[in-house]
Amino acid sequence: MRRRFAAVLGAALLAGLAVPGFAQFAQTTRVAVPAGYATSFLLYDKVDKPDRKIIRFLYLSPNAAGLRDAGRPLPDGTVIVMEDHAAETDAAGNVVTGADGRLVPTARITAIAVMEKRHGWGDLVPEAIRNADWDYGAFDGAGQRRAVPTEACFACHKPHGARDYTFSTLTRPID
Ligand code: HEC
Repeated sequence: MRRRFAAVLGAALLAGLAVPGFAQFAQTTRVAVPAGYATSFLLYDKVDKPDRKIIRFLYLSPNAAGLRDAGRPLPDGTVIVMEDHAAETDAAGNVVTGADGRLVPTARITAIAVMEKRHGWGDLVPEAIRNADWDYGAFDGAGQRRAVPTEACFACHKPHGARDYTFSTLTRPID
């Protein structure tokens, strides 16, 4: 039931309908791109997206890095960075694959998405889309904030409460 509600809510948000109270919350910008994440965070996975011609690099802050198998919520202060890299293409513009069958990332970063969890941050988020204490931020490849509303971020991640609202970090559901 909750899952279906979230799916309907997600569809409504993608159609441009606002959640009551969200506009006020959206004025508060809390998530930033963490300095030095590419060297200090754990690069824990890469996801190929051939349809979008990107490879997503997923980074987890050191305080959470050892907890991927713990089956419990990620700790306060966890930051997850998702960096989209343009994929290598051939002369015709089609993506190419390496010897391992995976897409080949270039150094060009096209977008950065960040989620961060801080005690009390959920209090400001309208209950209908709240993801515990997580907040979201969208940035361009240079790390400049993109002026996009984050409602859709909350709505699409919301059904994944059993994995602390992340798709990829926890390797098994929370106990
Ligand atoms: C329509 C669904 C959808 C929306 C909207 C969405 N995400 Fe996600 N997000 C995903 C999926 C699916 C993944 C797993 C990686 C993949 O397969 O692309 C993901 C992964 C992530 C991750 C890596 C951690 C994890 O959960 O695995 C971050 C960080 C993230 N998203 C941030 C954001 C931000 C910021 C926004 C809004 C600007 C956003 N997302 C909007 C579906 C969504």
